[in-house]
Amino acid sequence: MSKKNCNFARQEGSSALCCMSFLSVMEIEKLISHKYPGREVLYLVDKALGVQLPDMLALTVSESIKTLATVQTIWDWLLDHHATRRTLLVCVGGGVITDLGGFAAATYRRGIDYINVPTTLLAMVDAAVGGKTGFDYRGLKNSIGVIREPLETIILPEWLQTLPDKDVLSGYAELIKTALLDNNVMDLTALLKDDLRNWEPYITQAVEVKKRIVAEDPTEQGVRKVLNLGHTIGHALEELSIHHSLNSSIPHGFAVMYGLVAELYLSVVLLGLDKQVLQQITHVMMENYGRPVCSCKDYDRLIELMHDDKKNEQEGQINFTLLRAVGEPVINQVVEESLIREALEYLFTL
Ligand SMILES: NC(=O)c1ccc[n+]([C@@H]2O[C@H](COP(=O)([O-])OP(=O)(O)OC[C@H]3O[C@@H](n4cnc5c(N)ncnc54)[C@H](O)[C@@H]3O)[C@@H](O)[C@H]2O)c1
Ligand SMILES: [Zn+2]
Repeated sequence: MSKKNCNFARQEGSSALCCMSFLSVMEIEKLISHKYPGREVLYLVDKALGVQLPDMLALTVSESIKTLATVQTIWDWLLDHHATRRTLLVCVGGGVITDLGGFAAATYRRGIDYINVPTTLLAMVDAAVGGKTGFDYRGLKNSIGVIREPLETIILPEWLQTLPDKDVLSGYAELIKTALLDNNVMDLTALLKDDLRNWEPYITQAVEVKKRIVAEDPTEQGVRKVLNLGHTIGHALEELSIHHSLNSSIPHGFAVMYGLVAELYLSVVLLGLDKQVLQQITHVMMENYGRPVCSCKDYDRLIELMHDDKKNEQEGQINFTLLRAVGEPVINQVVEESLIREALEYLFTL
């Protein structure tokens, strides 16, 4: 994808944003009242969407609000609205809203039903599907959470018309990850060279791949770990940028893109992945995402953060999902620190 393609059907200005949101919300309200008659419905919404609903809590969203304090705010609001176990919580927003709302719903009164209405590409193809919910704790991504499937996920690609380029790219990284995992359903070559004005086929394909993997292993005992490709180094970079020494935070999908490049490097060295795949994805990264802002002295901190990753199975070992070939992920790969440093060096000296 070239940079110019990010501007697909984007409407500038906040009035366009409100207009689109209004249409989508009308559709959602109609759909939900039709499908769930008689249920009390409460809406948790991203404030940036500018939507107005009678029973809603609107939050100003950034990764830094994915905290216990925000979960408490949602629990308090549910209690103030006398939400019962029959109440339906509808989460309208990107991955931050669906992760937080899903967790609050999963834990309120031992669990109430919730519905996801993702409004970012990343949430449509990944975060709002598969039931992982949670929040960041002590600087560690999603370290507290539960798996609880939403009643359903309503995907309306119209929301994407107002999504900023940065967030389009963020979702695009998760699409690339999905194509690397399953090249049958999603054609990696087509994805990389396509003019991505028409998202719908890719969204459908990515959701199909994720749903199939999650259905095989809902609690991530085995095969679901493939979805973590790019996320060991990716999460460490994201955590470093949000909670530690870096000035500006790296969006989740950007961190995944950087993580993919470094972990494909590991895959070449350890599993004999074709170097061309690494070169191709490195090229996409350099063209669209730029280099991660990080200096060599951060390597120690990054490794420390990887040691704290919830995906590790044994203390002192850093666990990766790597790739033997496109469509052939391999889980539970323990990698030596010295090689991780080499992969970071590859990423940061491009
Ligand atoms: N649960 C999972 O399986 C899973 C999977 C992947 C990622 N995640 C989580 O998802 C989060 C990232 O999700 P995200 O990228 O959606 O981030 P986000 O929710 O922060 O949204 C990104 C930005 O887009 C804005 N926005 C949302 N919808 C918009 C629209 N339609 N038009 C214009 N602007 C809009 C938001 O206000 C925000 O500024 C991370 O916290 C990540 O850990 C979870
Ligand atoms: Zn992700």
